[in-house]
Amino acid sequence: VKRVTTFSLQEMKLRNEKIAMLTAYDYSMATILDDAGVDVLLVGDSASNVMAGHETTLPITLDQMIYHASSVVRAVKRALVIVDLPFGSYQGNSKEALNSAIRIMKESGAHGVKLEGGVEIVESVQRIITAGIPVVGHLGLTPQSIYKFGTYTVRAKEQAEAEKLKSDAKALEEAGCCAVVIEKIPAALGKEVSESLNIPTIGIGAGPDCDGQVLVVNDMLGLTKGFTPRFLRQYLNLYGQIKGAAEGYVSDVKSRSFPNEKEQY
Ligand code: KIV
Ligand code: NA
Repeated sequence: VKRVTTFSLQEMKLRNEKIAMLTAYDYSMATILDDAGVDVLLVGDSASNVMAGHETTLPITLDQMIYHASSVVRAVKRALVIVDLPFGSYQGNSKEALNSAIRIMKESGAHGVKLEGGVEIVESVQRIITAGIPVVGHLGLTPQSIYKFGTYTVRAKEQAEAEKLKSDAKALEEAGCCAVVIEKIPAALGKEVSESLNIPTIGIGAGPDCDGQVLVVNDMLGLTKGFTPRFLRQYLNLYGQIKGAAEGYVSDVKSRSFPNEKEQY
């Protein structure tokens, strides 16, 4: 199979083919998603929430991100694998940002990194790209800044924040980012940003005109109990199906119907 590269993403934007991205954190799921033809697997710091059960993305460490990333990389034959730099591993220090990105590339075998923020982190972005490491930007609702925002609601509804997002997106493109994720912003702004950039935008809750879409895989599979934001399309109800399966197992063990004559040596 032909591998997806950052160059392929650019080509997809040019030929107007939408980019399909999902998060992945482990080998089994990444195998399925790669076999399904998902173009980009994002080892998101949402692992902090969906894998580790933290309330925010802030606690996850660089070592933990590398563990998830290397599991995903071992599964993948086609998809491009991008890994989030976790909170505290890049902000405010471009040397540290570069070291963190290098650790991810060397220790996991991933193909690129993603950082949250605009002009504030552009020096770090440039430094990482100078080292030959592809960088994806992330603007709009950036969950590592949740304590600054105070809520997970839609960003950039006001003119000032929308203007800042547009100039941040331009700055990230000029710094050499290969794509930019835009999260939870009005669809009209998602369209405007996507049309104004040469690099692809990947939206999550940013409308249909982004060059690609991304969802947290646990959310789109209905594994995350009680999480139903408007932007989320649930393709399965795995919470219910897995719960049903586990209940069936418990009942079979209790009733002695498992294992049966054929399920033993
Ligand atoms: O960590 C994550 O899952 C993400 C996506 C939602 C873009 O950053
Ligand atoms: Na993330």
